Amino acid sequence: MSSRTEKLSSDFKYLQDHILHFDEIESTNAYLLQTDFENGTIVWADFQSKGRGRKKRKWQSPAGHSLLFSIGFNQNLDQIPGFIYTFLSAVAVGEALDSIFSSLKPVLKWPNDILINHKKVCGILVETKANSRELNKVVIGIGLNVNQDENYFRKTELQYGTSLKVQAGKHQDRKNILTKILKALDNNLDLAFKFGSDPILNKWRRMCPYINQGITLIEGEKSVTGKFVDIASDGALLLQIGRHTEKFYAGDVSFDKRSL
Ligand code: BTN
Repeated sequence: MSSRTEKLSSDFKYLQDHILHFDEIESTNAYLLQTDFENGTIVWADFQSKGRGRKKRKWQSPAGHSLLFSIGFNQNLDQIPGFIYTFLSAVAVGEALDSIFSSLKPVLKWPNDILINHKKVCGILVETKANSRELNKVVIGIGLNVNQDENYFRKTELQYGTSLKVQAGKHQDRKNILTKILKALDNNLDLAFKFGSDPILNKWRRMCPYINQGITLIEGEKSVTGKFVDIASDGALLLQIGRHTEKFYAGDVSFDKRSL
């Protein structure tokens, strides 16, 4: 598990100015959850042997093709609500991709996926460490498919995945994309620390075309279908089922893409 330190060209307010870059690691999220670090530490790996996704799923990617990175925070954690880290990360990835690829139109899917042409290009896993009284760490983990070829997604379980190379039609520079995402993340953290969750949630809403559409929310064995009315001020999904609107805090959204 050897790593090198790489300086970044951007200046950040909340993130460190360098990356800890591993050829291989079990999981960049696990590393930060298990290690003491300086606030805003960024860890990037070319390969993860135990990459993890939401709901205890695996997050696998061939070596050197993706951006697999995490950012750890251990300061000022009581100043913004924990749930907003997920939303501001998704917004940051969406904004960075928008700024690089003017024609790709990345969109957000609740709570934290980024899709292009209805296929998942990026997933985000925010994990925390707390003692009985307070939160000690927040770790944002981002997995972005960059240079996988179309063939890679032919397997049944990956058919709803895509990469930037597939969508943009050419090989992409991972470090350039990483730097742009980190800059957007830093800007959105600043927005959240100065003005709270509302401006982040408003940006998130603008990047989500599924609001006011019919969706199905699946959680374990249960599924509910209704109209995705909005996200609440605490990040919950508001689903109108018949005449009632219910709040959901967990689940996977699926939709009929013909209706969009
Ligand atoms: C999802 O299920 O969509 C979230 C996937 C998050 C994957 C990233 S890759 C970098 C970081 N380290 C991990 O082990 N997981 C996250």
